[in-house]
Amino acid sequence: MRTLIADGTVVSATGRVRADVVVSGEVIEAVVAPGSEIAESLRRSGDVHVINAADRYVVPGGVDVHTHMELPFGGTFASDTFETGTRAAAHGGTTTIVDFAVQREGEDVRECLDAWFAKAEGQCAIDYGFHMIMGGIDERSLKEMDTLINDGITSFKLFMAYPGVLYSDDGKILAAMQQAHHNGGLIMMHAENGIAIDVIAAQAAARGQTDPVYHGITRPPRLEGEATYRAIQLALVAGTPVYFVHLSASEALTHVAAARNEGYNVFAETCPQYLYLNLEEHLGAPGFAGAGYVCSPPLRSRHETHHADLWRGLRTNDLCVVSTDHCPFCMKEQKELGRDDFRLIPNGLGVVEHRMDLIYQGVVQGELSLERWVETCATTPARMFGLYPRKGSITPGADADVVIYNPNSTSRISAETHHMNMDYSCFEGFEIAGATETVLSRGRVVVDGGNYLGSRGDGQYLRRSLSQYLL
Ligand code: URP
Ligand code: ZN
Ligand code: ZN
Repeated sequence: MRTLIADGTVVSATGRVRADVVVSGEVIEAVVAPGSEIAESLRRSGDVHVINAADRYVVPGGVDVHTHMELPFGGTFASDTFETGTRAAAHGGTTTIVDFAVQREGEDVRECLDAWFAKAEGQCAIDYGFHMIMGGIDERSLKEMDTLINDGITSFKLFMAYPGVLYSDDGKILAAMQQAHHNGGLIMMHAENGIAIDVIAAQAAARGQTDPVYHGITRPPRLEGEATYRAIQLALVAGTPVYFVHLSASEALTHVAAARNEGYNVFAETCPQYLYLNLEEHLGAPGFAGAGYVCSPPLRSRHETHHADLWRGLRTNDLCVVSTDHCPFCMKEQKELGRDDFRLIPNGLGVVEHRMDLIYQGVVQGELSLERWVETCATTPARMFGLYPRKGSITPGADADVVIYNPNSTSRISAETHHMNMDYSCFEGFEIAGATETVLSRGRVVVDGGNYLGSRGDGQYLRRSLSQYLL
């Protein structure tokens, strides 16, 4: 069976064109001018499912390269399973996720990875891959990095934050970067000076400053900037590219931009929460409501330059990817764990369902072009993490992961209507101009008009290649 997505505006990272998209089985067969012979003969044959995309954007399915389904954190687990989280992603027009398997000090990398394969297998609504969090770098785990590459795990996240949990010191970071220099892996960095932050946070708690807002106050942007600078220096010494995850602060962006201007392979992503939410209104919400906004790095002050700088960074390509760092926890029983001490609030927000919509608001508001929306949310993440051209573009031979987006529709984000497994929404009440109408995942319609039509286990594991951004 074939599908004809007729008469839409097909948007890529480089332009837009009115076209018909022909889908055959799981892949894109052709992108042709509306009414061209191939489309018309298909219509005549009657053996085609026609989706009318007039007045709609037809864009590649979103690629979210930073999610944490079921992540163990702070004595609990991220509340979305691979089943619920990927279904929510599909509702929001994301058709691929790359999640993080976790290895900690003393643990065997391969065994940890297998545990994540077991969590995801047969559960996902959309295709998925893995990065590996290296929380315990030693001789054995360094060697295992090489073997993971062959299984399609081609990127490795290191932490300069969370001492005693996932933290690596500079020596370990350098060693992992040297290993990546040899095996072609891409190092992803959580850049916050966790040692200094823990001192400041303990001092605040000792003064009785235990409310959620102190999570942000005790993680100053300067300590994200410092860690970012340090990681860049280590990467240059090791001779390897580095990719900064969830960049939130002007101070960090300055260092990324400077390194890029000098010609180095330094890359960074940001997330919708750092563009739209802030320390005062959200993390500093009255009572304990701010707990719902605790994530690391924290939301930044609206009185500083961060939000405007991040939008600018997305335009200039100093920020080349928008991911979500989706790591949801419910208020009840989970965020609650830190009612008396912000240090015990599990870190993370639920965003996977709303990334495409939220960044599209940047198009509506004149921050980004339509093409840049597609580029940062689908094409570059696919290229950065070895999924292109299978994912991230609507071209013949690519997987038919397609979103039909209606720019003339509107919606309102609410915990009452979202599909993520969490009892609140960080974006409650946000009015969205535009809406994901129909989603195809490898040629099958999985979401249509807000209805989920797929099944658990439709999503396949993606063995990733090396990043296209490595030299
Ligand atoms: O607060 C966050 N970001 N939670 C998830 C873990 C991480 O650091 O990415
Ligand atoms: Zn992180
Ligand atoms: Zn994360």
